[in-house]
Formats: sequence, C-alpha cells, structure tokens
Amino acid sequence: MAGCRILILHGPNLNLLGRREPELYGRQTLAEIDQLLKKRARDLDVQVGTFQSNSEGALIDRIQEAMGHLDGILINPGALTHYSYSLRDALAASGVPLVEVHLSNIFAREPFRHHSVVSPVAVGIICGFGEESYLLGLEALLKMITKRQD
Ligand code: DQA
Repeated sequence: MAGCRILILHGPNLNLLGRREPELYGRQTLAEIDQLLKKRARDLDVQVGTFQSNSEGALIDRIQEAMGHLDGILINPGALTHYSYSLRDALAASGVPLVEVHLSNIFAREPFRHHSVVSPVAVGIICGFGEESYLLGLEALLKMITKRQD
C-alpha cells in the first residue's frame, strides 16, 4: 500500500460544497474534504492528487494524463454519474481499480439518481455517509489495490 498513487476526482458542482444544499451535502467545503483525504493519505503513506471540474472533458483529460502513473482512482462524479458514458469509458480505459463515492444516499433520492453508469466499471460504491464516504472509499480502494498485488 505504501507509495500507492491515487487520483481523487470530484465532478460538477462539488466546488460549491459548504453552501450547496447543505441539508443534503453537509457544511464542509471541498477544500476541507480534500484536506481530510490528504491527511488520511499521509497517515497511510500513500500519494494522492485531487482535481475538481465542472467540465466532463476536463475530468476525462485528467484521467488520460494520469494513465500509466496511477494505482487507483477515487471519484465522486456528481451528476455525471447518471449519464456520462464518456467519463465511464475514460475510467474503464484507465486500467486501474476505481471506487465511486457519493456524499448523499443516491438510492434514497429522486429516481434518476438511482442509476449510475459509472458503477459497472467500479470495484464498488460507497454513498450516504457525507464526507466519510470519501474516507471510507479511500480505505476500500487501498485494500483492493493491496489484494490485487498479493
Ligand atoms: C452526488 C449525488 C449526485 O446525484 C449529484 O448530482 C451530485 C452529488 C453526491 O455526492 O451525493 O452532484 O454525487
């Protein structure tokens, strides 16, 4: 696990965390969540890079740039979860394990949120635990990477 390189991606509107529908997404900002993730990564001795974009293309470009220099991806695709085949294809093309996370429990919300086009290419999905979804997702991803290396 030590030295693992993880890319953490946040999709559209997650830059608004803290002031975006706090009853659903909590009061923590994205910068605070990234700090929590970086601290956990330091404790676990793994390297993380974080990136947020409101643009599908920019997220795909970031995945393509990282290809060949990565051991895993942790992603909250935001609304792209529900319809972005191009993001899903880029994630599948990356060739590394990925874990999908959501702050809210997407299955307890509107029907259009119950379907993820990303989940079929993910190792697993964690949702509904607020910022803890990200931390749990990071730990789950690292466990999966270690298992695959054994
Ligand atoms: C979200 C859930 C999505 O349905 C929504 O579009 C988001 C945030 C979450 O973290 O709960 O932007 O991914």
